[in-house]
Amino acid sequence: MAVIGSTGTAVSIYLAPRFLIVLFFFICTAAKKEPCDTCRRLVDRFHEGLEKTSKKNFGGGNTAWEEKTLSKYEASEIRLVEIIENLCDSTDFECNLMVEEHEEQVEKWWFKMRNKYPDLLKWFCIDTINVCCPSGTYGPDCLGCLGGSERPCHGNGFCSGDGTRGGDGTCSCKAEYTGPFCLECADGYYSSERNDTHSVCSDCHEACKTCHGATNKDCKECKDGWVEEDGNCVDQDECATEKSPCKESQYCLNTEGSYLCEKCDESCFGCTGEGPEKCTECSAGYVLEDNKCTDMNECETDEKICVRDNEDCINIPGTYKCVCAEGFEEQDGQCVALTKKMKKPLLSKT
Ligand SMILES: *[C@@H]1O[C@H](CO)[C@@H](O)[C@H](O)[C@H]1NC(C)=O
Repeated sequence: MAVIGSTGTAVSIYLAPRFLIVLFFFICTAAKKEPCDTCRRLVDRFHEGLEKTSKKNFGGGNTAWEEKTLSKYEASEIRLVEIIENLCDSTDFECNLMVEEHEEQVEKWWFKMRNKYPDLLKWFCIDTINVCCPSGTYGPDCLGCLGGSERPCHGNGFCSGDGTRGGDGTCSCKAEYTGPFCLECADGYYSSERNDTHSVCSDCHEACKTCHGATNKDCKECKDGWVEEDGNCVDQDECATEKSPCKESQYCLNTEGSYLCEKCDESCFGCTGEGPEKCTECSAGYVLEDNKCTDMNECETDEKICVRDNEDCINIPGTYKCVCAEGFEEQDGQCVALTKKMKKPLLSKT
């Protein structure tokens, strides 16, 4: 039986979190950065370096001697060192590590293999350090993607791990396509061109959920908001039902494939459409006049409604207001005459 001493336990408790944090970061960076991506980046930078150093020579000037040495510079170690120095950003950990680990191979290519194998990506990333695969292939052994390496996923999707030593070669199809080989059409699309190796899927008519052609006669199933009528999918009038799908203060407006609920006019208490002519009932403060709900002028009724002394009635849409008349102000619920000092000074005669 193992007995862990108190000191040992304390130490491992102390160390464990740090160790886990380091491990965590290692896993994260390893998962985030594909070595093949790093290698491709590095090769791109190598080509940039070649470009930048292409017009250089050992020194400056353009003497005959310099002209002669130029050809030597082209394949020189000095040029290679200049290129390698700029291969990675200082913060690009994976890139710096890759250069450090494989600098000898890059030198070997530069001095010995370059003429025979001019494609650095192929020689270095694919065939020498084995982090990439030729495009259209995937995984440790660079096997062909589903649908073949020529046109992975039949040109209708993305092959998992394409061009890298990772992935499993399966296809993620574009929206229009489905099936393991991206040859079938997804719901909402129909096959407009098809043979064993090529498949083109096109949009169904907007009325169809699934279809076998381009028009609303070709639906297999109507989309929500559309109903079948004589073999066509046609817009369903959601507003034609006995009970409106909208709230009491709204009217229903049918649209292609759907409907809207619009606010009734403020003069309406319930309505069948836009404006004061389409009220089912008038709101409080409105009366039916010439087939539309119009504002009632409460101030002109026979009975006086603003009953305090020195008070005016003001009509407003749907209601009215009682306010103190000009020259009077509200004070303790009464309209009292404005005091003299509150009045504007009269023009003084000089
Ligand atoms: C399939 O169709 C494509 C595009 O139309 C064509 O290029 C190809 O040759 C056809 N293949 C066969 C086997 O008919």
